[in-house]
Amino acid sequence: MKDFSEIKEQVKAKIAEVKNGAQLSEFWQSYLGKTGVISGLMKEMKSVPPEEKPLFGKAVNEVREWAQGLYSEKQAEIKRIELEQRYERESVDVTMPALKRKPGNLHPLTLVKQQMIEVFAGMGFEIAEYPEIEDDDHNFTRLNVLKDHPSRDMQDTFWLTEDLLLRTHTSPGQIRTMDREKPPIKVLIPGKVFRSDSDATHSPMFMQMEGLVVDKGITLCDLQGMLDQFVRQIFGDGAKTRLRPSYFPFTEPSVEVDVSCFECGGKGCSLCKGTGWIEVLGGGVVNKKVLENCGIDPEVYSGLAFGIGIERITMLKYGITNMGMFFANDMDFLEQFKA
Ligand code: PHE
Repeated sequence: MKDFSEIKEQVKAKIAEVKNGAQLSEFWQSYLGKTGVISGLMKEMKSVPPEEKPLFGKAVNEVREWAQGLYSEKQAEIKRIELEQRYERESVDVTMPALKRKPGNLHPLTLVKQQMIEVFAGMGFEIAEYPEIEDDDHNFTRLNVLKDHPSRDMQDTFWLTEDLLLRTHTSPGQIRTMDREKPPIKVLIPGKVFRSDSDATHSPMFMQMEGLVVDKGITLCDLQGMLDQFVRQIFGDGAKTRLRPSYFPFTEPSVEVDVSCFECGGKGCSLCKGTGWIEVLGGGVVNKKVLENCGIDPEVYSGLAFGIGIERITMLKYGITNMGMFFANDMDFLEQFKA
């Protein structure tokens, strides 16, 4: 009768060396698996005389069961050790001080946009928002921007199709409002606008705040009065406005509005390039053609409109010289606007 003691010694020594799951499955393969040593013993059955075959078979099975027993014990032990290690790894020291989370703050553009809305809401304006994707009709034609006007140039406008585009200004909101409501109208339209333009003071996406007032007897004086109020509340009591003649197809007369330089108080400095004034917005009296395009009788009603660049106001208010800062996600920059 063959003695399996040699194999058993080997198995004992091997199992003692097993320290983890990977080594354990290696052990299984070398001894208990299909090609393992113990399975190999069964192949020797051929050379065993017939009368000894049952005994031989029984002995091999005993070795197998014995080895399987060792295997299961080891398996349980490794499981226990690995669990302990996991508990160790994942343990939490509840006496450690908690990590402090820094409180966040609003983005400067959001802050200024909200301030601007508050100022105009105080004058009785309602807020309206309109789509960023517009059609030619609302963005240009009905605003009296005719087919050959330079602002339709491919370089400025992001066209999506023959007819659709990313709005280049919030002025199409004037048309959408007048299509929806009849005077008296007093509406503020904040929103993103898009132009193919990018440098220190231009970004392909920026924000505007459109204002539209339509009623009987509205004049340029009303515009100046509102804007005076606006700049005083945003830039401080000393701030003044100055209107300069300008041109927009949708207003007549059109003005460019400057605010007195709050850095130097009007004496002239680098911020205002020595002029004492800084340009902040465009506006004017709503062109009669635009009122007519919206079914409003220009003999009865008149209107004023303005468009303010929110980035520009924010840059001036905080002395920011590079527009890219707004979009850089630079924490050192953004944290300065904590209330
Ligand atoms: N839409 C003009 C622009 O983007 C600004 C503007 C608005 C001018 C309303 C007049 C009236 O430059």
